[in-house]
Formats: sequence, structure tokens, C-alpha cells
Amino acid sequence: MASGESNPGWLIRPGRDADGPAIITLIWACWSRYPGIHMDVDREMPELHALATYYAGQGGTLWAAESDGRIVGMIAVRPSDSAAWEICRVYVDPSLHGSGLGHALLDQAERHAITAGAERLVLWSDTRFDRAHRFYEKRSYVRSGPVRVLDDISNSLEFGYAKPVNGVESLDIAAATSAETRLADILIACVEAGASVSFLPPLAPARAKAFWHRVAAEIGAGKRVLVAAWRDGVMVGTGMLDLATPENQPHRAEIKKVLVHPSVRRGGLGRQIMESLEQAAVKAGRTLSTLDTRAGDAGEALYRAQGWQAAGRIPGYTLSADGAAHDTLFFWKALRQGKARASRP
Ligand SMILES: CC(C)(COP(=O)(O)OP(=O)(O)OC[C@H]1O[C@@H](n2cnc3c(N)ncnc32)[C@H](O)[C@@H]1OP(=O)(O)O)[C@@H](O)C(=O)NCCC(=O)NCCS
Repeated sequence: MASGESNPGWLIRPGRDADGPAIITLIWACWSRYPGIHMDVDREMPELHALATYYAGQGGTLWAAESDGRIVGMIAVRPSDSAAWEICRVYVDPSLHGSGLGHALLDQAERHAITAGAERLVLWSDTRFDRAHRFYEKRSYVRSGPVRVLDDISNSLEFGYAKPVNGVESLDIAAATSAETRLADILIACVEAGASVSFLPPLAPARAKAFWHRVAAEIGAGKRVLVAAWRDGVMVGTGMLDLATPENQPHRAEIKKVLVHPSVRRGGLGRQIMESLEQAAVKAGRTLSTLDTRAGDAGEALYRAQGWQAAGRIPGYTLSADGAAHDTLFFWKALRQGKARASRP
């Protein structure tokens, strides 16, 4: 936004080179809360003396948040490789932690990048800034790539975080671990809305997180593929492929827990998740995929629309929260190397 975004407590406006001293004070206020972090602006961060010019020179933008004439927050964004943009220097004065200012700053930077054509958002965060990690994870970023070594006076190591703006991606164990909270939110919302996916409501966050934690371990063991779906930068869907089939079924993979947040259903995400899982099964060398779902649910319609064959129905296989019994349908689909395809029984 050109002039700035305001809230009763602060105003977010374009950053200026003249903000340098206030920006240095702000960054130090954040860094000094962590042991072992040192600051030598002239040797390691001379760009802080003219930060607006620095980001403008890279095609990026800097914003500052002001409150009572004091700079209490900042963020920058710049184009990175291909269609990715990098979120940089997210700092909020400790007195305003938990106030929502971090979200407002990140909203501003993400909106700017997406409007400029970003398809992917990336950032780096010091491995010691655990509070920041929880914030980025809440904002649907997942751990990405190796830890970066800065070789600076603070011996900084940085985690990479990334998310697509829209799309489905598979999560390795590091990404899955960082996504546990967000995935738990999706699972809880789906169970609350009546999904028949092993759990009954109310599903406590700790139990939901523990479920995804076990899934992360299975990804690490090569037994599972987990995908997540993002819409407008928010992780809103997931699905997984169980590769741990018995030794006489090395060609089969089972699709499980295909979940799309109730707020974004019928937007094509379920279809994208299924396509991605079928491709993952083919990539893993599997030629047959199976799944089961409660008869009459949206899942049944989705799988039929994707060319899956219903093999049979078991009456009263699951119960819902009110104790009612429901039939389950078993589905299968033959896959062929190169692409997934439907097959006639
Ligand atoms: C099943 C589920 C994943 C579908 O996600 P979604 O993002 O809404 O699905 P899509 O928008 O990609 O739908 C693709 C197609 O599936 C069919 N479909 C999906 N939901 C449907 C519904 N409620 N009624 C009828 N058809 C439906 C349609 O053919 C749709 O294509 P269309 O919208 O062009 O008509 C979602 O409803 C969900 O999370 N349900 C709860 C969890 C669950 O039961 N998962 C299955 C467990 S195995």
C-alpha cells in the first residue's frame, strides 16, 4: 500500500534510509534477547545505514512500522531466483511481540511479492530464533533445504523456510516436522466438520500434532509420502501415500488422509492432491493404488471423478460422533509408469 497501513497501535509505511539508526536499535533489541548474537554493523551489515536504497537496488522494498514516532517493526522483500521472492529482516520490538504487528508486516510483504508475480516465498531464520520459527510455521512456511552457515561473528546458522503461493508439494522429514502445527489445524478442522478419518471430535491439538509427528518419522524411514497444498500462501490441504505395504504387495501404495480445510472446498485442491499422490506412487514404482472412504462423503465423489474404481462396500464399518454406523467403500486404481490412469475392472 502506497501511503501506509495503520492500526490504532502502529502505522506501516515505506522504509527510508534515514531510518537507519532506529532500525539498528530495533534489530539489536531483538538480537540481544538471544545469547551469543553480536552486532557489528560497519563490518557485517553496512547496508543498514541506507537500507531502503539497498532493497530498491535489488528490485525489492522495505517497510517500517511506527508507533508514537518510534520505529517498532520492519520487514523487507526482494526477488530471488526464478519466481521466488525472499522475505527479509522481519523484526518487531519485543514490547509488541504477540500484538499482531508481525502478522501485519508479513501480510504487507507477502501481498507485495504476490502482486509482483511471486509464485514462491522463501526466507532464512537463525537457528536460535525459536520464536520466529513458530511464527513462520504458523504462516504456513515449511523448513526447506540445508542449514546455511554464515561464517559471521555470531557463528550464525540459518534454517531455510519456503512455501509456494499456490500448489501442492511433497514434504521431506524436516518440512513435515515444521508443518506439524499447521497440519494439526487442518486435521482438527476436518474432524470437527465430520470427516471420517480415524478420529472423532473433539480432537485435541496435542493428539493431532502427535499423529503428524509419527507421520514425519515414517517419512524419514521412507515408508510414507506426505504432500501439502497451499492456497494464497496458506497451507489448507494434505494427503499421504503409505508405501509400507507387505512384501507380497511391493507394487501397491495406499492413499490416506486426503484433507482439504472446510473453508476452501470445491476449489480443485482435492483433485490436485490426488494427482500429486498418484504421481508420487508412480515415481515410487507402484502400479496399483488403493484407498477407502465413507460411502456418500465428498471423498467418494472426488475419487469417482478421478477415475477410481469402487471394489466393494462394507456396511457399518465406521461410527460417527453421534454413534451412527456408516458404510465404507474400497477403491482401487491401476497406475502405469509415466502417468496415473484409470483401469476397467
Ligand atoms: C474429499 C475432499 C478432500 C475433497 O476436497 P476438495 O478440494 O473439495 O475437492 P475438489 O474441489 O478438488 O473436487 C474435485 C471433484 O471431486 C468431486 N467432489 C468433491 N467434493 C464434492 C462434493 N462435496 N459433492 C460432490 N462432488 C464433489 C467433484 O467432481 C469435484 O469436481 P468439481 O468441483 O469440478 O465438480 C474434502 O471434501 C475433504 O477434505 N473431506 C473431508 C476429509 C475426507 O473425507 N477425506 C477423504 C478420506 S479418505
